[in-house]
Amino acid sequence: MAIDQRFLDELNARCDIVDLVSRYVSLKKSGSNYFGLCPFHNEKTASFSVAPDKQIFHCFGCGAGGGPIRFVMKIEGLEFPDAVRFLAKQYGMEVPEDTADRGQRQRRDRLLELMKEAARWFYAQLHAPRGKAPMEYFVRRSLSKRTMNNFGLGYAPDSFHALLDAMTAKGYTKEELFAAGLIVRSPKGTYYDKFRNRVMFPIIDIRGDVIAFGGRVMDDSKPKYLNSPETMIFNKSRNLFAMNIAKKTKSDYFLLAEGYMDVIALHQAGFDSAVASLGTSLTEEQARLLSRYTKNVIICYDADNAGQNAAQRAIDILGRAGLSVRVLRIPGAKDPDEFIKEHGAEAFRKLIERSENHIMYRLQNIQDKYDLTQDDQRVLFLKEAAREVASLENAVEREVYTARAAKTAGVTAQAFSIEVKNETEKRRRFEKKRYQREVRAAADAAQPKDRSLHYDNIRSARAEEGLLGLIFADSSLIPELRELITPAEFSSPLLGKLYASACRLFDEGHQVAATALEQELTSGEMDHLAMVLRKPVPGEKRSQAMRDYVNVIRSSTAEDDPDSLLRIAARKRKQTDK
Ligand code: UTP
Ligand code: MN
Repeated sequence: MAIDQRFLDELNARCDIVDLVSRYVSLKKSGSNYFGLCPFHNEKTASFSVAPDKQIFHCFGCGAGGGPIRFVMKIEGLEFPDAVRFLAKQYGMEVPEDTADRGQRQRRDRLLELMKEAARWFYAQLHAPRGKAPMEYFVRRSLSKRTMNNFGLGYAPDSFHALLDAMTAKGYTKEELFAAGLIVRSPKGTYYDKFRNRVMFPIIDIRGDVIAFGGRVMDDSKPKYLNSPETMIFNKSRNLFAMNIAKKTKSDYFLLAEGYMDVIALHQAGFDSAVASLGTSLTEEQARLLSRYTKNVIICYDADNAGQNAAQRAIDILGRAGLSVRVLRIPGAKDPDEFIKEHGAEAFRKLIERSENHIMYRLQNIQDKYDLTQDDQRVLFLKEAAREVASLENAVEREVYTARAAKTAGVTAQAFSIEVKNETEKRRRFEKKRYQREVRAAADAAQPKDRSLHYDNIRSARAEEGLLGLIFADSSLIPELRELITPAEFSSPLLGKLYASACRLFDEGHQVAATALEQELTSGEMDHLAMVLRKPVPGEKRSQAMRDYVNVIRSSTAEDDPDSLLRIAARKRKQTDK
């Protein structure tokens, strides 16, 4: 459903694209533009730029481009209307909705209301007489009353319909309870409570809405934890447990744990920036969510193999989100919860202070694989360590860890540094090749499959791009240009379409800007427009420039353009070959 363009204009006007992009990408100013590493593809040199005057971003590497809404769509993985809502919320604006959207919205609100009611009810059950056993369970696990309240912990009684009855009495339908994931349906078609005889952990998003539950058994039965299914209001890969509390922390790092109980124990011990992914391995979206609140993450996963493997994966994912990562080792305990219970908060704080940056952590893991008293094993250790050290971007860091690894293996730093240099060189060559490959792939991908994007006539297309650059920079040129050329005379249908759109915006009294076209252009078209608009525009004598461009377009009709002649000849040859 289309959103009122006037509203979008207002939203784009309020939004500052540099400010918006800076929340995800670190930008450096150069001239009137900003540059940084493209968040949409892996790169080592900054080919991503933001032009605040035009309110657009564009990457020369992968071709992505557009205005603020397009940026949010890409980076948050949202559809157009959701991206608009996302931005609007940040600027305190309310999106005008059509009836279909409003229906969706009301349903969401209703489910959220139900989840809140359910959380209140589970809480009440924990504090009722039948909550004696679960209360004892929490106390046995050393949770204080205050902690239980902070996290809104509750209890789902040992019944197939207690929640169902309580919520239907409040006017919610079975269908709603089912959509919220609170009840399940038997093969016979009867409904019953999903969570039974479990202690309950509400999962609350950053807005403060209860969106799901985790429920744990109080003994050794299986499954240990039961979690809400994904629903209209719960996307588990986009949320982190306790993020609603942790986002308020003053600490400059976040702790990332594996389990609900770890997070709760950490908060109780005063570490108020602890969060956990929801029973799955960390996702890119969760890493991005974290990166909105902090620059530093300390992974404190379980000490077992599964936990350590998950830590390795998390290091990469967090690193890609631009976070600096440290990894904590928990000696002699299974997880943070157990460690704190045994050794206390102070001891845990010491672990944090001693937590290793990810490279030391990896070097330690490599070291653990080899017996360094054996010469042949030492050589293998050094080879593997050299690769690890070479992966560091920073030369000073490389030097520091070269010295450490050399010392570990009992060789001189000089000798080992040759190995590291070789590996660094290898890596550079590899990166360069990969970069070139990526750029080529991006260029191929940008190669329009759609005929409307084909440039049959390069010379004319360049001039058409020049015209677009001029009228997007100064829309008062449009009336004059219209006297000279129509969209149909453009050699490229896409550029012709953009010209027509610009004229339409002008007639309707909207700003002639890329941002005003975000709703109607496809992603590929918008990328292209952003690319066109990133080209420099003559600062003066614009009317003359416009006439010159029009002359180029007129003179390079298909027949007399050599480039185009060649193409036509080639096409003919192909046809006769068949
Ligand atoms: P753990 O088994 O390490 O949980 O699983 P824990 O928090 O230490 O559990 P306690 O201390 O025995 O209470 C880590 C996380 O994996 C998810 C949960 O989110 C849990 O907190 N999990 C685990 C499940 O979703 N289902 C399961 O059956 C087990
Ligand atoms: Mn545990």
